[in-house]
Amino acid sequence: MNDDLPNLDLELLTPPNESSHKPRILLLYGSTRERSFSRLLTEEAARILRLLGAETVIFDPSGLPLPDAAPSEHPKVQQLRDLVLWSEGQVWCSPERHGSMSAVFKAQIDWIPLTMGAVRPTQGKTLAVMQVCGGSQSFNTVNQLRVLGRWMRMLTIPNQSSVPKAFMEFDEAGRMKPSSYYDRMVDVMEELMKFTQLVRGRETFLVDRYSERKESAEELSKRVNQRSI
Ligand SMILES: Cc1cc2nc3c(=O)[nH]c(=O)nc-3n(C[C@H](O)[C@H](O)[C@H](O)COP(=O)(O)O)c2cc1C
Repeated sequence: MNDDLPNLDLELLTPPNESSHKPRILLLYGSTRERSFSRLLTEEAARILRLLGAETVIFDPSGLPLPDAAPSEHPKVQQLRDLVLWSEGQVWCSPERHGSMSAVFKAQIDWIPLTMGAVRPTQGKTLAVMQVCGGSQSFNTVNQLRVLGRWMRMLTIPNQSSVPKAFMEFDEAGRMKPSSYYDRMVDVMEELMKFTQLVRGRETFLVDRYSERKESAEELSKRVNQRSI
C-alpha cells in the first residue's frame, strides 16, 4: 500500500454550522463611461441579489491605477483587495471590446493576488459571469471570464448572461427593460445564490489539493530534519 495515497476526509462535506449572515457578493464591472451598460447590468443584478437576501457591494473601477503603475498601498487597490477578502461570491460583468474583455475589467483582476500571505483571496468563492455587447450576441467575453475564474481558483456557476445591443436594453433612468435578457440575468443571480449557499463554509475543503498537501508535508519533514541535525 502506497503511503502517498490521498487521505480524503469526506466528513468535512457535512454541513458546517450554517452561516447566519447574508451571503456577501462583490460585483465588478468593466467600464468608466458615465452611461455604462456593464455598470447598469451590474446594478440590476445587485438589486436582484439583495431581493434574494444577499449583501452586495459594487466596486467602482474609476481611479484604479493600471496594474503595477502604483504601489499596492494605493487606496483603490486596498479597497478592491479588502472587498475581495470580504466576499463569499462574485459577479463579473465586462463589456466586449475587440472580441474580448475590456482592459478596465482585466486591470481589476490583475490587482488581485492569487496569494496574500497564507490566504488565497479568491480561492473557492463562487462566481457568475456576464457581458454586454454593442453588436449581436457573443460569448467571447464570458468564455474568457470563465478561464480567468478558473485561474483565480473560483467556482464559476454554469449559467451566464450575454446582453446584445445593450444600448437598446436600458431606459433613460438606467433601469433594464423587461426582456428575455432580463429574465436570464435573474436566472443567473438565483443560481449564484444557490451555489453560494452550498459552497460557503466548505470552500477550504472543496479546493484542497492532494498535491499541495503532499508538498507541505514534505516541506514540514524537511524543516524537522534540518532542526534535528
Ligand atoms: C473600442 C471598442 C471596441 C468594441 N468592440 C466590441 C466588440 O468586439 N463586440 C461588441 O459586441 N461590442 C463592441 N464594442 C461595443 C461595446 O461593447 C459597447 O459599447 C458596450 O456598451 C461598452 O460597455 P459600457 O457601456 O459598459 O462602457 C466596442 C466598443 C469600443 C469602444
